[in-house]
Amino acid sequence: LKIGVIYGGRSAEREVSLRSGEAVYQALLAAGYSNVVKIDAKENLVEQLKTNNIDLAFLALHGKYGEDGTIQGLLEMLDIPYTGSGVLASAMAISKITSKKIFLLEGIPTPSFTVVTRREVNKHGLAAASARVLQEVGVPAVVKANTQGSTIGITFVHSADKMSEAITSALNYDQDVLIEEFITGMEVTASVLGNEDPVALPLIEITSAKGIYDYEAKYTPGMSDHIIPPRLPEEVQRKIESLAVKAYMALGCRGLGRVDFMVTESAIYALEINTLPGMTATSLFPDAARYAGIEFPQLVDRLVKLALE
Ligand code: DAL
Ligand code: MG
Repeated sequence: LKIGVIYGGRSAEREVSLRSGEAVYQALLAAGYSNVVKIDAKENLVEQLKTNNIDLAFLALHGKYGEDGTIQGLLEMLDIPYTGSGVLASAMAISKITSKKIFLLEGIPTPSFTVVTRREVNKHGLAAASARVLQEVGVPAVVKANTQGSTIGITFVHSADKMSEAITSALNYDQDVLIEEFITGMEVTASVLGNEDPVALPLIEITSAKGIYDYEAKYTPGMSDHIIPPRLPEEVQRKIESLAVKAYMALGCRGLGRVDFMVTESAIYALEINTLPGMTATSLFPDAARYAGIEFPQLVDRLVKLALE
């Protein structure tokens, strides 16, 4: 079986993906796969896929052109099996807005929100859009570029006069901007593994030295901590796990996914699903698996087998 680890790519999360890909490559070798190549999806991807003649693509891409259904579609057309979710689930999950709409339909609680589109800003002006957002969501709020990962394009807005700037900044990354009510609570993530009968791996509570779990905190060793299991009552943990599996199935995910939550004294809120979660040395998914007794080489082996099911 010749495996191509597809990594790098051209999203804003390229650097993260290079690290995920390298880690996955090493883990595949450690798992006993001997015919493994690394393919940087930055350019000439179709040629590289053809000349390498791989039997399976192990996707270690994040964000646009990787986590969004585009490469999944290309691989479908080329008849190359791949790890993780298919075209539709990937495309839905990359959109935080679409995911939240589905969460609401499925009874999965998510922070209240509104959306600003570039079209609205062009048509009615930034000031009017901001005023509407302030009326509907207010502050504090979290302003997010709809399809970005790793906290890129996100602003925490604490005062009304900063709203326009935050929307403009998110519009640099995406034509749609999500503005969410800011939830003060514990950040918890649920890693989910499987196809037909997905299971939640041990939950992780995330703490960050800076107070917010942003790009720097995510990828600088020592700047954030993973607490497994989270400091939450058993029944709350079980509830989060079941919501995570429900969200995963609602979007039709396969292989793996990681559902991020905010948890308060009285409520659990699902924020989003990452269909190609980070696989770097400081990443959450491999940590959850390790805690469940699945070492990284076993985990990548499991993902290969799930892709071939
Ligand atoms: N978007 C990053 C890679 C993550 O969710 O882990
Ligand atoms: Mg994400």
